[in-house]
Amino acid sequence: TPLLLVVLALGYLLGSIPFGLLLTKAAGLGDIRDIGSGNIGATNALRTGNRWVAIGTLIGDAAKGAVAVLIAGVLASRTGGDATWMMSLAALGAFLGHLFPVWLGFKGGKGVSTFIGILLALYWPVGLLFCATWAIVAAVARYSSLSALVAALLTPVYLAWLDQWHLVGLGVLLVILIYIAHRDNISRLLSGTESRIGQKKTEA
Ligand code: G3P
Repeated sequence: TPLLLVVLALGYLLGSIPFGLLLTKAAGLGDIRDIGSGNIGATNALRTGNRWVAIGTLIGDAAKGAVAVLIAGVLASRTGGDATWMMSLAALGAFLGHLFPVWLGFKGGKGVSTFIGILLALYWPVGLLFCATWAIVAAVARYSSLSALVAALLTPVYLAWLDQWHLVGLGVLLVILIYIAHRDNISRLLSGTESRIGQKKTEA
C-alpha cells in the first residue's frame, strides 16, 4: 500500500543524513572519511579528538532513527494503519538510509547509533538494555565494535524475553545488517588489530 512506501521512503531520507560527516566538517576537523577507520559514525568521530562531535554524531544518528519511527507511529494512528508494520518499515528505511546513503555513493555507516534510536522509539527498555550491554562490554574490552556486536546479538533475545515478539523479525534483520556492516571490524577483532575506543590509530 502507498502509505507503507511513504514511511519507508521518509525513513530512508532521514536515515541518510550523515551526522558524523556534517558535524566533523562543521567543526573544521576535515572529512571524517579520511580519519581513523574512515567510517562516518560516532566511534570514528571520537578519533578526531573532539568528544563533542562524537556525542553529537551519536545523538544525531540515533535521533533520526527515533524520529522516523515516531512519525510512522503518528501516521499509523491518524490513518488507522498497522502501527507495527508502519513503524518497522520506517525503522528499516532509516537503517538502510544510514548504511547506504545515496548522497555518499551508498557508502554509509555501520548502524549502531541509528539502531539505538530505533530501539528506544519502538520499545525503550530494550534500547536501554542495548546501551547497558554495550557499556559493560566496552568497560571490559575497550572495543566499540565488539561491544556493538555483543549488544546486537542479544537484542532479539531481549525483545523475546520482554514479550515484544512483533519486533523480533525486524530486530533479527537489522542485527544481520549490523554484522555485515562490521565485517572488516570482525576480521580485525579476530586478527587482534582492531583499534580500541578513543585510539587514533589509522587502520592498516
Ligand atoms: O560499532 C562500532 C563501529 O562504530 C566501529 O566503528 O570506526 O571503529 O569502524 P569503527
